[in-house]
Amino acid sequence: MAYVDLCDDPAAVRRIFLDLQLASADEQVRAQPLAGGVSSGIYRVDLRSGSYCVKQALPRLKVAKEWLVPVERVFSEIAYLQVVQGIVPGRVPQVLGQDEASKSFVMPFLGPEYRNWKAQLLAGRVDTEVARALGAVLGRIHAQTADEGALAGRFATDANFHALRLEPYLVETAREHPALSDRLLALVDRTARTQRVLVHGDVSPKNVLVGPEGPVLLDAECAWFGDPAFDVAFCLNHLLLKAAHLPAHLIDLLASYRVFAAAYLQEVEWEPRAGLESRVATLLPALTLARIDGKSPVEYLGEPQRRAVRRVAIALLQQAPCSIEDIAVHWTREFKA
Ligand SMILES: Nc1ncnc2c1ncn2[C@@H]1O[C@H](COP(=O)(O)OP(=O)(O)O)[C@@H](O)[C@H]1O
Ligand SMILES: [Mg+2]
Repeated sequence: MAYVDLCDDPAAVRRIFLDLQLASADEQVRAQPLAGGVSSGIYRVDLRSGSYCVKQALPRLKVAKEWLVPVERVFSEIAYLQVVQGIVPGRVPQVLGQDEASKSFVMPFLGPEYRNWKAQLLAGRVDTEVARALGAVLGRIHAQTADEGALAGRFATDANFHALRLEPYLVETAREHPALSDRLLALVDRTARTQRVLVHGDVSPKNVLVGPEGPVLLDAECAWFGDPAFDVAFCLNHLLLKAAHLPAHLIDLLASYRVFAAAYLQEVEWEPRAGLESRVATLLPALTLARIDGKSPVEYLGEPQRRAVRRVAIALLQQAPCSIEDIAVHWTREFKA
């Protein structure tokens, strides 16, 4: 069936909710767009049976540089949410139904008692318990999916992961930094070849809602059976970037960085911790540099901070190997108020 953009097609939204028996025939079904998505249409729908969120994959991401991705990735996201609901119930939104034609799915709308973690961090409200809980959740997801052949087959989304993650972040950064190209492309190669666990692929504070029971992880459209180091380094990178942005909160942000890593590493039993930690520590500065010079630059850093982050990330990349703790120490030295 043809792809319909839900934004232009209220009848399609209505049909989805009628088919799922979440709306009754006499009810108005209105979809209000939610802010924040870069890769999807995301809408809130309030009905007598409850409040819902519909997410539809878009063919083009809303970022500055050209970035096209297939809409079928929504089915990886749905599958990820379903698998993970079985491992850590309540730590991802429940999938209430899906619509093949519009490449969309429905989940409960998580209301005002859920706060976006990125917004909290940027406002200087840094609760290390959120980082600890998220590290443990991520570790349990990886531990429970490690070396599961059926999941490796279901999430063999290598092309999607390359298009959404490795290419725009690391390959693009290699183009911008020819002197670091060999090192960055070796990291791309290592990451692509390390296939051990179900990776989320976008463990970013903007994709975490902090609720009464703890963090809820959203937005699994980069789901891939691959290298656990990617999820860990990706999340730690966000904490480093926020520490560079908010020197007054650097101590708490780096405490969050440390407890996230420690809580995560406690769950690691499918491979030696030291090896995984070393992959995280080598990938992390590459991801940091990628948020300066890749296709998805971080939006909240000013030019002087961007230059400082670039310099430290390059130094860390060149001095590899280092540890997760070494990176925190460097960061403190450079950015402490
Ligand atoms: N179930 C939900 N309930 C409430 N808000 C949600 C829900 N799902 C997503 N959101 C909000 O919409 C934003 C975008 O959703 P997300 O799945 O991250 O889409 P994208 O892939 O476009 O980033 C999230 O950051 C969050 O603030
Ligand atoms: Mg998102």
